[in-house]
Amino acid sequence: MRNILVYIFFITSMGPVAAELPAPLTNDDFRPVSIKEASLGQLLFYDPVLSGNKEVACATCHHPKFGTGDGLSLSIGDGGKGIGLDRIVDQSNLPEQRVPRNAQPLFNLGAKQIRILFHDGRVEVDISRPSGLRTPLEEEMVNGFASIVSAQTMFPVLSGDEMAGHYSENEISEAVRRGTLTGDGGAWDLISKRVRLIPEYADQFMKVYDHITKPSEIEFTDISNAIAAFMEFEWRSDTSPYDAVLSGKNTLPRLADKGLKLFYGEAGCVSCHSGALLTDQDFHAMGQPQLGPGKAARFQNHSRDEGRFRVTGLDADKYAFRTPSLRNVALTGPWGHAGAFSNLKSFVSAHADPRAALIDYDRSGVILTDFNTVDWAIMDNPAEVQAIADAVRIKPVTVSSDDVLALVAFLENLTDTAAQNGRLGIPKSVPSGLKVPTP
Ligand code: HEC
Ligand code: HEC
Repeated sequence: MRNILVYIFFITSMGPVAAELPAPLTNDDFRPVSIKEASLGQLLFYDPVLSGNKEVACATCHHPKFGTGDGLSLSIGDGGKGIGLDRIVDQSNLPEQRVPRNAQPLFNLGAKQIRILFHDGRVEVDISRPSGLRTPLEEEMVNGFASIVSAQTMFPVLSGDEMAGHYSENEISEAVRRGTLTGDGGAWDLISKRVRLIPEYADQFMKVYDHITKPSEIEFTDISNAIAAFMEFEWRSDTSPYDAVLSGKNTLPRLADKGLKLFYGEAGCVSCHSGALLTDQDFHAMGQPQLGPGKAARFQNHSRDEGRFRVTGLDADKYAFRTPSLRNVALTGPWGHAGAFSNLKSFVSAHADPRAALIDYDRSGVILTDFNTVDWAIMDNPAEVQAIADAVRIKPVTVSSDDVLALVAFLENLTDTAAQNGRLGIPKSVPSGLKVPTP
């Protein structure tokens, strides 16, 4: 034991050392996908029929045109019109609030190594539980999901602000409000019923899944397994210029190569953005400015977002968020869990010295739909800002403006045009006949 401690001390006291590049991704790193299943999932992903008021699809917030996000700092779900930068609130059906966090990109979700989802990791692989997952639903958790990615789909469809809609607007939001999620007449069953009643979906489900012999057998788990297959197939991303470097087939242009050396060397980025997905799948407090409604528990009244702390209750997790994968990061702005920056250079220089950056934070970098809500309750309160700064434990890294340019040039080489364009693309129409979200 003592030897181990000495060894750890020795490593940390040496300062940053140039780290080795990870091994390239191969087919073995990804779950196999059936194209038939993915094609069914494609229709569901773009179909607003899964949302309470039939207005919001997954693609409303996860659109290929915006790097599988929505181009906004914080999304507007139910109660919005249009997508991306054109999204406006619907005055006749006002949303209650913005979605409290930035919509995450959906690249490489089929990678077997992924074991946590969401900015706070509230859905995670846990083999000690019957469903194999730890989620906020605990005993309501249903079995039969093909993967953690499939299980994730249960959540946006229940959220009033994202897809379900509010109070008594529709049968799904009513079921959510009653707390009836599972079983006959539960929220997931009501969503499945809508799908069962559309003949084109019913036919396709029976063709894709052997265990479905009649429409009434289509369950929410089948819907979410199909959507997961689609996301995994559509946005696998392992053919960027960076991948060519990992497999020894190419080198990067000069500035990007300097950035790569900084990333794996002096700038210390690899200590968290490690492995071929550029994430340690762990949580760190990085002093990101907080805007929007925050994440208070039902009995609380504040605009804070304490990140991982909300899941574990451990002080060490206060304001810590998941290290995101940096694949295609140049396409996925605004950046940070609340989308506080829409300029990647500003993000990177702030990220290297987060405490100092919090004090100089320039709010003009956010991209928000015009909506009369309190967005800056936290940043307007010096004690709250101090709490975010105090949680940061990393030592600042000195990066010059030239270094920032080089780091950003490196990040741009993580862009993979195959994944950016997708494989199946955007369907022209969906079986419900509802409008496919298009910019
Ligand atoms: C109103 C916007 C909105 C809609 C609609 C929406 N999402 Fe999301 N999505 C988000 C936001 C915001 C997050 C991050 C939430 C968090 O971390 O708390 C997210 C996170 C995710 C993640 C986790 C990614 C990761 O790396 O951890 C997946 C997967 C995902 N969404 C898929 C879907 C699917 C599938 C649908 C449709 C059933 C959907 N989303 C509908 C906004 C949306
Ligand atoms: C101590 C761990 C750690 C180190 C070191 C680190 N990062 Fe991060 N990085 C994170 C975490 C955690 C986040 C998410 C923070 C948040 O949103 O609250 C993040 C977010 C990012 C993002 C935004 C991604 C997005 O989708 O919003 C970029 C870009 C990024 N880091 C690049 C870098 C670069 C370049 C370096 C080196 C200069 C670096 N990181 C060093 C942990 C780290």
